[in-house]
Amino acid sequence: MHIKNKDFGSDIKWYDITNKELYMNRRRFIKTAGKVAVAGAVSLLAFPFANRISADDGKVKLRGIKKSPFSTDEAPNKYKDVTSYNNFYELGLDKRDPARNAGLLKTRPWTVTIDGLVNRPSVVDVDRLIQRYQLEERIYRLRCVEAWSMVIPWVGIPLAVLIKDAEPTSQAKYVHFTTLNDPEQMPGQRTGALKWPFVEGLRMDEAMNPLTLLAVGMFGEILPGQSGAPIRLVVPWKYGFKSIKSIVRISFVSEQPPTSWSSAASREYGFYANVNPDVNHPRWSQKTEQKIGKLGRFSTALFNGYGEHVAHMYSGMDLRKYY
Ligand code: MTE
Repeated sequence: MHIKNKDFGSDIKWYDITNKELYMNRRRFIKTAGKVAVAGAVSLLAFPFANRISADDGKVKLRGIKKSPFSTDEAPNKYKDVTSYNNFYELGLDKRDPARNAGLLKTRPWTVTIDGLVNRPSVVDVDRLIQRYQLEERIYRLRCVEAWSMVIPWVGIPLAVLIKDAEPTSQAKYVHFTTLNDPEQMPGQRTGALKWPFVEGLRMDEAMNPLTLLAVGMFGEILPGQSGAPIRLVVPWKYGFKSIKSIVRISFVSEQPPTSWSSAASREYGFYANVNPDVNHPRWSQKTEQKIGKLGRFSTALFNGYGEHVAHMYSGMDLRKYY
């Protein structure tokens, strides 16, 4: 028997009843299908955008996705490029390691703690976030400090929406993000490549900028492990290392927080890390970039081409200084 497009409500999760299990155990299917119907009805009442996740032919798809005017009209890279050439040191140093080791990462269930200088701290399940908030497709350019770039069709929730719901206090000036710390699931954390867990930060106005996205999916599906499942940051006008993966904590703080790469090598990586063709990294000229999947080199754009939305945040700042 082949079951297609089975929707799951908030109590029964897709990872509890995969298509494979449905094949294997008809009795369990009959039992769970009944529960799904009830849970689906309850979740529709509780959430305005219920039943956002569905399993179809082994893929876990996201539904109810709105297109965004912030998307680039450049053609996205192929799924294979985006998921086989990754930087995710917790899953290995070679570009192909994260895909190889992604299976070690258990991404459901997964909670994110939102705390610090907020009136409404919470610990929230990622699938609740997916059901609670409007999902948007954002096709963004991602520019790595290593001078390569890709175009990725993310699916996510604008970070500003979550921040407003958390009600930061007037003392909150920065947002600090933390990746999961679990060497069992993340073999790279058994090495001293970086100080673990990986941490990143944004100034409050950067975090509130409409371009800043918490991605939960790509190509219409949930994120694969190597891409930072189940939830990661995407800040398209900054070098890719700011886009922290597999987030477990979002804290609101009063001082500029430490960030992994600037702590590891402060002369090479800054807190701001805005894409800038005029400020070279000691190892990589930033004048040009290699677009993965295309031949030749292309000129780098200031703020990765997103200046009209973000340049105002840095007026009066010496962009060379704030590498
Ligand atoms: N997040 C964590 N937790 N660990 C990492 O090693 N690498 C960063 C960023 N986020 C990294 C991370 C870097 S250097 C880049 S370029 C992007 O993820 C790459 O994202 P991608 O692999 O989805 O293209």
